[in-house]
Formats: sequence, structure tokens, C-alpha cells
Amino acid sequence: MIKQTLRSMLDRTQVYDFMVPSVADELDLSHGTILYLEGITVSFDGFKAIDDLNLYIDAGELRCIIGPNGAGKTTMMDVITGKTKPDAGSAWFGQRMNLLRMSEAEIAVAGIGRKFQKPTVFENHTVFENLELAMSSNKNVFPTLFASLSSEQCDHIDEVLGIIGLNEQVKKEAGFLSHGQKQWLEIGMLLVQKAELLLVDEPVAGMTHQEMDRTAELLRTLAGTQSVVVVEHDMDFVRSLESPVTVLHQGHVLAEGSMEDIQNDQRVIDVYLGGH
Ligand SMILES: Nc1ncnc2c1ncn2[C@@H]1O[C@H](COP(=O)(O)OP(=O)(O)O)[C@@H](O)[C@H]1O
Ligand SMILES: [Mg+2]
Repeated sequence: MIKQTLRSMLDRTQVYDFMVPSVADELDLSHGTILYLEGITVSFDGFKAIDDLNLYIDAGELRCIIGPNGAGKTTMMDVITGKTKPDAGSAWFGQRMNLLRMSEAEIAVAGIGRKFQKPTVFENHTVFENLELAMSSNKNVFPTLFASLSSEQCDHIDEVLGIIGLNEQVKKEAGFLSHGQKQWLEIGMLLVQKAELLLVDEPVAGMTHQEMDRTAELLRTLAGTQSVVVVEHDMDFVRSLESPVTVLHQGHVLAEGSMEDIQNDQRVIDVYLGGH
């Protein structure tokens, strides 16, 4: 009886009202831009951590953000994910979703995934279970406590395992993974949640060179299907991403271009590269 009720619940194509995000709009990428930040200003006690910031990310783009400590990189990520509301400006996800009107949870459900510097995988669970748990927090999936995964969901997890290169570790407890593997698993957890825009903060801190190369490869693979914004200090790593680079300085965009352009830009040399 209970089993039958559950089955009928799970068979429904329509999810329950309480699970439907209050932001009903689908991500609209018809103009080819996934993220618009315009005139964003964030003040802390009168100090402008972000100052009239404009940033546009194309759908499927891989973009690197660099800048000296205090440039406003983390605060910018906080604005995009709804953790911090700016004093001025506008922020849109695709054509129709106004990020400034959405809560942090709504923004996550809408498809913006953030990977923090420190991996936050469930150490006592296997790689597979971590992905399964991440998937169940997706808006369209009933919590897996109640059901085994559909074959479609299993296929998706398999696909993600291939992308993050952890096929062979699928039954391993996450606590036994290397630092790099944990970082990839966490990226996988965002992928099973169908994040369309991934924000990745200093992914290679603490990684071996080999892991760094593998991470660059992974992020380059994601570009095209997902949009990826990477904040990173390691210049060799940034170079290996072969992506456009935005330099932030005092909460404002100082320069934008290829790594080569950036390295030859006197303003950048003065405030950033020159300072090291
Ligand atoms: N909650 C806060 N309260 C006060 N000042 C802050 C807060 N968060 C960040 N700042 C300041 O804003 C500036 C930008 O910080 P942050 O975004 O962390 O820079 P980055 O990530 O580029 O190093 C820094 O000067 C920092 O001290
Ligand atoms: Mg920071």
C-alpha cells in the first residue's frame, strides 16, 4: 500500500508544489549570454569592495578571473550566488532571471553552482553515493531515500564519472581520495545537479602538477556544454586554460583579453604582475 503510494508519487511527471522553485522561469540563453553583471557596487562600511563592475559571460564560455588580494573576486562570486546583495547595479542569469530578486537557494536551483576552495564532499560515503546525494538535491528528483535511481539517472551519473575521471574510484569512500580527486568529485556533484554556470574558486591550490594538468583538461572539457568562471592565482594554471582572462582591481575590471594581452598590458603589470 505504502509502496504503491510512493510509486504513484514517483511516477508523477509534475513535481510537488513545495519542490517547485518560486522562480518559474527557464534559463533563456537566446542571446548567447549566460551572465550579465552591470554597474554592480558593493560597499562594506562605506568601502567599495565592488565598484561599478561590468562582466558578461557567454553561454559555454570558460573565463578566468585574476586580480590581487582584495580585488573583489570572492565578493563578486557572493553577488552572483545571492549571498551578498549589491547596493547598486543589475545581475541577470540568461535573459530573464533577475538574480537580485532571487534567494541563494533559488539561484542554486536555477543552475548556478559554486565550488569553494575547500572540498566539501561526504568523506564517509562512496564516490557514487556522493553523486547520488547531490543528484537528489536537484529540483526534479525526489529524494533518493524513497527510490532507487532511474536508469536515466544512473546513465547521467556514469557520464559524469567519465567526465571527472573517477570511474575506477566509484566504490571508494571519498575520504580516501586524493586532494585533487576530491575537487573533481565536487565538480561532478555540481554537474549531476545540472548546473549551467559553474563558479570555481582557486581549484588548484594544494594540487600536484599532474592534478593541475588534469583539472585544466577537465575545465576545458566542460566549456561548451557548461559555462565556467574560474578564480585562480596560479599563473601557469591560468595559462594552461587558454581562456579569456578578466583582471579585477579595486572592485573594477582593469583589463580583459587573452593571457598574452594581459601580460603585455602595462596597467596590469603595474598593479598586479609587477607587484609579485
Ligand atoms: N564582509 C566584509 N566586511 C568588510 N569588508 C569586506 C568583507 N568582505 C570583503 N571585504 C573587503 O572587500 C575587499 C574585497 O574582498 P574579496 O572580495 O574577498 O577580495 P578577493 O577575493 O579578490 O581577494 C577586501 O578589501 C576585503 O577586505
Ligand atoms: Mg578571494
